Amino acid sequence: MTQHESKHMQAGVVGWPIGHSLSPRLHGYWLREHGIDGDYQAYAVKPENLKDFIRSLPAQGICGVNLTVPHKELVFPFLNYIDDLARKIGAVNFVRVEDDKLYGGNTDGYGFLTNLQENAPTWRPTAGPVAIIGAGGAARAAVVSLLESGVPEVRLYNRTKSRAEKLGQIYAEYYDPARLTVGDWVDLSSGLSDITLLVNTTTLGMKGQPPLEIDLSRLPNTAVVYDIVYNPLETDLLRAARERGNVIVDGLGMLLYQAAPAFEAWFGQKVKVDPAVRHYVLKGLEV
Ligand code: ATR
Repeated sequence: MTQHESKHMQAGVVGWPIGHSLSPRLHGYWLREHGIDGDYQAYAVKPENLKDFIRSLPAQGICGVNLTVPHKELVFPFLNYIDDLARKIGAVNFVRVEDDKLYGGNTDGYGFLTNLQENAPTWRPTAGPVAIIGAGGAARAAVVSLLESGVPEVRLYNRTKSRAEKLGQIYAEYYDPARLTVGDWVDLSSGLSDITLLVNTTTLGMKGQPPLEIDLSRLPNTAVVYDIVYNPLETDLLRAARERGNVIVDGLGMLLYQAAPAFEAWFGQKVKVDPAVRHYVLKGLEV
């Protein structure tokens, strides 16, 4: 019997607040699909209690957790090891417990890129510049995965330009600064004329948030439009892009693909992102 088969395994997602998370539904699906004696639950942990909670994972018998807002950045000092990718992205989205030690990693960039490759298979990273809207944590995962995959230039557009410039400074340590440029928010529409990919990493267009107002008339119709928002699944941005003939990629796949490697690390089982799990998780948005 392997270690993974020998006992009930507990994992979960830690956030504050946590009520809206789809992760328990997603991991619960895979646990049942593979008949694993395990459980994945939501842990509501206030920022001031994060250190005690994370440090107590081994004693609680928890094999790992995902981290969500606002803990992805706060958790760094409480871990024993953090991988290079998580350091570059500046966020840890999952922790694995092994021999009572806490290992932090980041699968958001992997989820972002795999979802893009699966849903826009003819898109080539080296074919030309891309534009990213936003400069928060989600933008960092997108920036790192796109630059790592060979995109010649990532153009950042953020309402607060100084935040985008800060990212430019951070990544100048890792990449040629000419590959990460910052545009003015007001020039967003005119900066789209030569791009191969447009990504929204902001909350604009999400249910309950203002729409992302953007003029797509200069966007080549060969460009892919990717929105990391998944509620609604088809945002106004994606609908407008689809109606003018662009290939579109919604944000649900990023959630699914970022979860798969973490599941494998905790439970020792590879999982598939297929239409059935996508459909099941999507149903969770309706309840
Ligand atoms: P996350 O870590 O999920 O990316 P975040 O750090 O709060 O979340 O970032 C949210 C992004 O949405 C930011 O780029 C933010 O722009 P600012 O840096 O100017 O705040 C962007 N955003 C949120 N509301 C916005 C709005 N009404 N107009 C333009 N951008 C907005």
